Amino acid sequence: MKVLITGGAGFIGSNFIFHMRESHPDYDLICVDKLTYAGNLETLASVINDPKFTFIKADIADRKGIYEIFEAHHPDVVVNFAAESHVDRSIENPSVFLETNVMGTQVLLDACRTYGIQRYHQVSTDEVYGDLPLDRPDLFFTEQTPLHTSSPYSASKASADLLCNAYQRTYGMPITISRCSNNYGPYQFPEKLIPLMIANALADKPLPVYGEGINVRDWLYVEDHCRAIDLILEHGKVGQVYNIGGHNEMRNIDIVKKILAILGKTESLITYVTDRKGHDMRYAIDPTFIHQELGWLPETKFADGIEKTVHWYLENHGWWKNIINGEYQNYYERMYRNR
Ligand code: NAD
Ligand code: DAU
Repeated sequence: MKVLITGGAGFIGSNFIFHMRESHPDYDLICVDKLTYAGNLETLASVINDPKFTFIKADIADRKGIYEIFEAHHPDVVVNFAAESHVDRSIENPSVFLETNVMGTQVLLDACRTYGIQRYHQVSTDEVYGDLPLDRPDLFFTEQTPLHTSSPYSASKASADLLCNAYQRTYGMPITISRCSNNYGPYQFPEKLIPLMIANALADKPLPVYGEGINVRDWLYVEDHCRAIDLILEHGKVGQVYNIGGHNEMRNIDIVKKILAILGKTESLITYVTDRKGHDMRYAIDPTFIHQELGWLPETKFADGIEKTVHWYLENHGWWKNIINGEYQNYYERMYRNR
């Protein structure tokens, strides 16, 4: 079995490669990644010399390049993680989100249609459902919740999902989609809430909490997400959407305080800053369907996952220090200086 994994030098894609290496040692894994600011070959150091692993630097929106890869490798399965993934960057510059997340997905779907495939899996997000009000804790996103996006990022991901549905119905392609809640764990780029707060706390820098810090996210340890995708590839139904989440809703401010407590740092580092434009209030997945259909349940409790994650960043200083010492500083200045 040859599995082509796009975006495998990023956070979730790399964790998925490590997961697949363990759970299916006989599979050939091909990673296609453009190595944008968010992609890092250092992350793949432990697999890069593995004879059953191939890395190819390519842009999923480059039709010619992608067709050449299909021509040369003929993958059986494609899992598309490649995306521009950060909401704040999408508010600053939406264009690249449409190029990669929408046009890139279309190129991959066309390549799968041209060369044939056993399965195409689209890694999507709960953000396609928009948000839920804070005063209705009884409401959750199900697979039937209408798409209702807020940011250019979520609009681009929803567009890609609609393309997948269209290709499945029109051309009868074997496509599945998963929509997951917020992931955390090793190798997450330090622009996202948890690693950014860890990095700032360790440097005794202010921790920029948007608005009042009361927005709620539904956190899932990245390995649980990877296991769910593996199950969908093995046993999922073609044409089906699977929501992935673990009923682990937390307010941003409580996450930040938890990180400070683990690191033994003072809460006076917390700084409330101007809110994100169009900021979604609450995400909450109902994972009943994937539990009933595929028997999936999250295995890592948040209390354990966050301890593991903070310790991973403490033990892998070199990995994220290299990142925050480079171009990241310009990004940080732009995003946070006058906030
Ligand atoms: P990430 O930003 O850490 O990694 C994205 C990877 O894609 C990087 O390696 C980057 O180099 C690569 N990439 C970007 N543009 C590309 C292009 N045009 N061609 C080829 N490669 C390209 O993102 P992540 O957090 O690992 O997210 C992976 C996927 O999961 C995304 O599709 C995202 O929408 C989805 N998702 C993320 C979360 C989350 O909490 N992080 C939750 C649900 C869904
Ligand atoms: O829900 C899934 C989505 O989760 C994925 O599709 C996205 O790719 C991923 O980036 C994530 O989106 P969020 O916008 O929820 O994640 P982020 O880490 O950027 O922010 C989490 C919350 O923390 C959000 O309410 C904004 C807030 N925040 C974030 C940053 C970076 C802050 O208060 N301060 C910050 O500096």
